[in-house]
Amino acid sequence: MIEKLNQLREKIEDALAAAKIPSAVEDLRVKMLGRKGEMTLLLKTVGSLPAEERKEMGKKANEVRDWVTEKIEEARVRLEAEAQNAALKSEAMDITLPGKRRAQGRLHPVSVTFSRLEDLFVSLGFDIVDGPHIETVYHNFDALNSPPTHPNRDESDTFYVNENLVLRTHTSPVQVRTMESRKPPIRIVAPGQTFRRDEIDATHTPAFHQMEGLVVDKNITFGDLKGMLEIIVRYVFGEEAKIRLRPSHFPFTEPSAEVDITCYSCKNGLSKSSALDCRVCKGSGWVELWGCGMVHPKVLEMSGINPREYSGYAFGLGIDRITSALHGLADPRLYFENDVQFLSQFVG
Ligand code: DAH
Repeated sequence: MIEKLNQLREKIEDALAAAKIPSAVEDLRVKMLGRKGEMTLLLKTVGSLPAEERKEMGKKANEVRDWVTEKIEEARVRLEAEAQNAALKSEAMDITLPGKRRAQGRLHPVSVTFSRLEDLFVSLGFDIVDGPHIETVYHNFDALNSPPTHPNRDESDTFYVNENLVLRTHTSPVQVRTMESRKPPIRIVAPGQTFRRDEIDATHTPAFHQMEGLVVDKNITFGDLKGMLEIIVRYVFGEEAKIRLRPSHFPFTEPSAEVDITCYSCKNGLSKSSALDCRVCKGSGWVELWGCGMVHPKVLEMSGINPREYSGYAFGLGIDRITSALHGLADPRLYFENDVQFLSQFVG
């Protein structure tokens, strides 16, 4: 018995010396002191010893068991502390190292223009509405009084999805959708992307951005339109900006006009020796920004609004143009190239 106890003790000492991780010690504890552990089983045999040996052996065996229990606990505490230290070491960081700077995103300059204008229109009581990029030929052309012979309808100008669907060439179809679904008074703006089959060059991109405006109510006049255009231009370009309206033609407005503003670059010749030097307005002193007009009675009628009762005005803001004018940029391709160095120059 003594011998067996000594053997066990040695075995345990060796095992503890070899244990590297806390779970090895736990395994050893179960193997020795568990219900069917070697030590436990050996202790059980004490009961079957002759009475004179039993007392002595019992005492000895208990001593060995206490010793084993203590050693195992010691080893467990030591190994757990080691494991914790190792983990702390591997997770330690050098707080003196310079931090990694995270690139901070910004709003795209076109998005900034959109949201500034949206703020203005919301403050004036307009609703902001959305329309589909893929539009019916009816909403994009017919309901806007563009006859089948209108040159814009040609496949060389417009992306056709099939014979009834196009990528919308302007935001004006949202006028139609709004009039079909709402009753006057109507005051909406419809911001969004538009598409034309243009070759990419210094002034054209096949995708671009517009914001449509539509107001329909009783007694709306061209004077209301002009007043609104002045509000928009002053808000975007400052108090000193002036507008000029030139007669124009759009199938869905009558009369129609083109809105020009005083050239933001040469200030109509005032800031240069002569407007003739100006690259932006090419000497005219004015820059064309967007189209507008009084909603054509036929357009009102086709969308279910009585033109004898109601009148309205509409405008189609060229958002890329406005953004370029604000930042003195000439080339709209920059808005689509996603060159971070270019985009990061804008605050927003
Ligand atoms: N839809 C026209 C275009 O894309 C712009 C336009 C002109 C919109 C006159 C209007 C308007 O609402 O009244 O060229």
